[in-house]
Amino acid sequence: MSRGLFITLEGGEGAGKSTNLVFVRQWLQREGHEVVVTREPGGTELGERVRDILLHSKQLHIAPESEMLLMFAARSEHIAKVIRPALAAGKVVLCDRFTDATYAYQGGGRGLPSERIVAIENWVQGDLRPDLTLLFDIPVEAGRERAGQRGEPDRFEREDNEFFLRVRQAYLNRAAREPARMRVIDASRSLEQVERQVTAVLEEVVRGR
Ligand code: TMP
Repeated sequence: MSRGLFITLEGGEGAGKSTNLVFVRQWLQREGHEVVVTREPGGTELGERVRDILLHSKQLHIAPESEMLLMFAARSEHIAKVIRPALAAGKVVLCDRFTDATYAYQGGGRGLPSERIVAIENWVQGDLRPDLTLLFDIPVEAGRERAGQRGEPDRFEREDNEFFLRVRQAYLNRAAREPARMRVIDASRSLEQVERQVTAVLEEVVRGR
């Protein structure tokens, strides 16, 4: 393989992204792939510090533009130090959130114009885009109910339902525009049924390469 495979997982609160990440990693490893698991914001020392600012600054007001630029600052570091080297070595990069989250949260949620995000995406990423994105989709209320059982909410989790309705819609709009790359998984089903949907996509897209 001349270049590895870049797979991202996306979804709103309580969609089961983390549980499914383990399932996807194990599936890939069984198929013989070397898998690098990482996340955004995060994945590097700088990225994890930026994550801490973005998620855990309780009193700090961060303007939407600044929030977006911090996401991309972390991403730039992540791409240079983790993602591109792993792909160049033929590995599979499995990333918990990537730029679709910026379109959903900073674009949909915060209302930033998507043209701004497009411009920075092109500048920071060049031609790097995920090969496959699994979007774990669940109605906002059901997802928040699941996520609510996890304790102290972070800066995003404290947003209201309207915010998360916009996030969900922005994700679904992106999936509708790029159906080959972005596969919607109905995450409101049972874990077994969700895993069945994920397996079907992986068999088609990853085995098919
Ligand atoms: P999570 O990975 O634990 O879900 O937390 C990351 C949070 O950061 C989540 O609320 C979504 C948010 N986020 C953005 O707002 N924009 C982004 O570009 C990324 C990667 C994450």
